[in-house]
Amino acid sequence: MENTVLDTILARSSIRAYTGEPLTREQLAALKAAALASPTAMNRQDQRFVFITDSEIIDQIDKAVFAMLIKKEDKAMIERIWQRGGKTLYNAPLLVCIFAKPAHFAGVDAGIAVQDIALTAKSLGLDSCILGMPAMAFAPDNGYDLVSFLGVPDGMEFMIAIAVGHRAMDKAPHEVNEAHIIEVK
Ligand SMILES: Cc1cc2nc3c(=O)[nH]c(=O)nc-3n(C[C@H](O)[C@H](O)[C@H](O)COP(=O)(O)O)c2cc1C
Repeated sequence: MENTVLDTILARSSIRAYTGEPLTREQLAALKAAALASPTAMNRQDQRFVFITDSEIIDQIDKAVFAMLIKKEDKAMIERIWQRGGKTLYNAPLLVCIFAKPAHFAGVDAGIAVQDIALTAKSLGLDSCILGMPAMAFAPDNGYDLVSFLGVPDGMEFMIAIAVGHRAMDKAPHEVNEAHIIEVK
């Protein structure tokens, strides 16, 4: 059976190195449309999608994550990141950070939106990596105050982020385990 949506889902994988090529205005518009079209519980729609294309700001967030890892003395994670080129956001030309008011299903809503962005990116010939680690840069009271710097309304918390760009590496999609499907007939 031919199905372009399923083909896109099956082709996506987490890419952790990007070329410097910026995204076009059309690509950015498509990714924003995907974010806004994502469903939310009770149709709350109270997420904020921060689209960051300023490389200095992306670098600032990257450095804040790294500084927090050093502060926490998370040696295993620091070593892992070091092996991946020393960047937590992988030099992507676009970082989308999703914020929401803490509420039942806020994390689920953000997860749906981030995958919609990932699949739209893939369908446009781009690649992505979903990122939980920027949470460290946006943690309250860590001294960075990056949430208000980005213009996110008070009371909203970081949910998830995604790096998007042109791939500078190859990586096969993860292996699947058919046993994780439980059929009830
Ligand atoms: C909620 C979530 C958070 C993630 N956070 C990170 C992250 O901070 N850094 C990273 O490099 N990858 C992160 N990933 C990517 C996963 O490591 C990746 O999806 C997983 O290894 C499967 O590989 P695949 O995406 O290539 O299929 C995250 C994925 C998800 C779903």
